[in-house]
Amino acid sequence: MSSNPIILQSEKLTKYILETSVYPREAKTLKELRNVTATHPWGFMGADPDAGQLMALLLKLLNAKKTIEVGVFTGYSLLLTALTIPDDGKIIALDPDREAYEIGLPFIKKAGVEHKIDFIQSPALPVLDKLLEDDSNKDSFDFAFVDADKDNYWNYHERLLKLVKIGGLIIYDNTLWVELLPGLKRMFQYPKENTGRLL
Ligand SMILES: C[S@@+](CC[C@H](N)C(=O)[O-])C[C@H]1O[C@@H](n2cnc3c(N)ncnc32)[C@H](O)[C@@H]1O
Repeated sequence: MSSNPIILQSEKLTKYILETSVYPREAKTLKELRNVTATHPWGFMGADPDAGQLMALLLKLLNAKKTIEVGVFTGYSLLLTALTIPDDGKIIALDPDREAYEIGLPFIKKAGVEHKIDFIQSPALPVLDKLLEDDSNKDSFDFAFVDADKDNYWNYHERLLKLVKIGGLIIYDNTLWVELLPGLKRMFQYPKENTGRLL
């Protein structure tokens, strides 16, 4: 939820929820990163804090330790994940844009969670394929968050189903953006392909 009330359709209600429930729970470094991201020309791409808090809840419920993030930008969801998983947790974070990641890096360092992050400057697909070449990576991740180029969502899904373990969680941002993204329709048409992994 941003100040743009897309789902609730009520600016007042959106503001009320953000001010009474979301902002008070937001970590200081996340708030600082969100404010800096808002000054970026593409700042609207940053993850929203309420979506982040839902994600943190899911990470905790899952007791997630090993995660993948596709689409980092300035790193709001990455920092949130790093703050939520245990100290020996690991995140493989993929994005071709290192410049944007470096905007968030000082906040990641300030929060003391850089050691949990392996940022790889690359489009995600070749890295996911490389991970799959090593059998020990299969069924080894607890959690994946995809917030990147929508046309590749199905390609990501095919690979993440093999990397994320049974009982793990794969989350996609913006699946209802404009309309159900064509690349995602297959996921809903073939639910058996998702067996054992929540989506
Ligand atoms: C909506 S932003 C991500 C927002 C981020 N999760 C956050 O919390 O602020 C989308 C990101 O996807 C990245 N991206 C675009 N194509 C990509 C690809 N093929 N592989 C990985 N990341 C990609 C862009 O560079 C951009 O930083």
